[in-house]
Amino acid sequence: MGNSAYELLLKRMPRENRRWLVTGAAGFIGSNLVEQLLRLDQTVVGLDNFSTGKKSNLDEVGAVVGNSRWENFSFIEGDIRDLDSCRKVCARVDFVLHQAALGSVPRSIDDPIATNASNVTGFLNMLVSARDAGVKRFVYAASSSTYGDHPVLPKVEDQIGRPLSPYAVTKYVNELYADVFGRCYGVETIGLRYFNVFGKRQDPDGAYAAVIPKWVGALIRREQVEINGTGETSRDFCYVGNAVQANLLAATTTEPAAVNQVYNIAVNASTDLNQLFVLLRDALAAEIPAIKDAEPLYKGFRAGDVLHSLADISKAAKLLGYAPSHTILQGLHEALPWYIKSELLRL
Ligand SMILES: NC(=O)c1ccc[n+]([C@@H]2O[C@H](COP(=O)([O-])OP(=O)(O)OC[C@H]3O[C@@H](n4cnc5c(N)ncnc54)[C@H](O)[C@@H]3O)[C@@H](O)[C@H]2O)c1
Repeated sequence: MGNSAYELLLKRMPRENRRWLVTGAAGFIGSNLVEQLLRLDQTVVGLDNFSTGKKSNLDEVGAVVGNSRWENFSFIEGDIRDLDSCRKVCARVDFVLHQAALGSVPRSIDDPIATNASNVTGFLNMLVSARDAGVKRFVYAASSSTYGDHPVLPKVEDQIGRPLSPYAVTKYVNELYADVFGRCYGVETIGLRYFNVFGKRQDPDGAYAAVIPKWVGALIRREQVEINGTGETSRDFCYVGNAVQANLLAATTTEPAAVNQVYNIAVNASTDLNQLFVLLRDALAAEIPAIKDAEPLYKGFRAGDVLHSLADISKAAKLLGYAPSHTILQGLHEALPWYIKSELLRL
């Protein structure tokens, strides 16, 4: 191991037991956070209402961390739209990692009221509960969608445009509330603007699935992959291990200038959808040779999508010591065996 901020933290954490609350614990990013925290011998409380998360994600975490560490986890099925549930789970908590929200731009266009209820009302309930419980820090999932129609690339934290979807509005409102809770009540918050996170336990199913799990699932099932637009749409795909790193650094930083800020969390590398398709097809063809001839089908552009997204990550590097451990290729290398296994189990 080297001496990066994260490596030093990973060495230190097992000696310092803290109580963490992960909301959205049964979801993709939440379950990966729970897994890493338990591996580091932390005490973890999870909250989820299973709206998009799955019990099987938690079962899998239990299986990989082993019985003795799993005993450090307690789960409460509950809803962040309910203030009492939020208060209950915040009791005696040191650090909150707030992930619970309804994700997906198209879902928010279809049902803005549902998205607002979980992402804005639920967020405010959590902030109030964290404030009243006196938690040390409230780290929350913000989003690259907050950049909206701002044209400059790479994206820098303090230059945002107009939101392009109800989802983007909710994530920007989170940042505004977090900032105001710092000013009015002294709550320490850090927002992490994730850019297209991917990895194991990301849901491949349904109309609102993210592109990587959706395409991997389709390729394995030998269904045609559909590309929205010309395939030149590009993203800064971020492996979930990088997002986990950012959460742990954000919760524990003792650097005063780092607190009450928002940060881009990505890799600072751009991949367009045509390149992504080839990457996934070739990586999967190494395991399942029939996939090598797959070709995509091009469809119209999707409402609410930004064309290009690329993060400047120098603020997180400077103030949090964030240094992504995985490029997109390294992340796919770790995640694909999980997708292949879970997809084959379903066939
Ligand atoms: N995955 C990405 O690329 C990405 C990018 C930007 C931001 N984010 C944000 O990161 C967070 C986690 O996203 P994810 O990709 O893991 O999605 P996910 O859907 O897998 O996880 C979200 C979890 O929150 C739970 N949840 C939703 N509404 C709830 C409510 N009212 N009460 C309690 N639990 C509730 C869901 O059941 C689910 O388990 C979200 O806030 C999302 O907006 C994700």
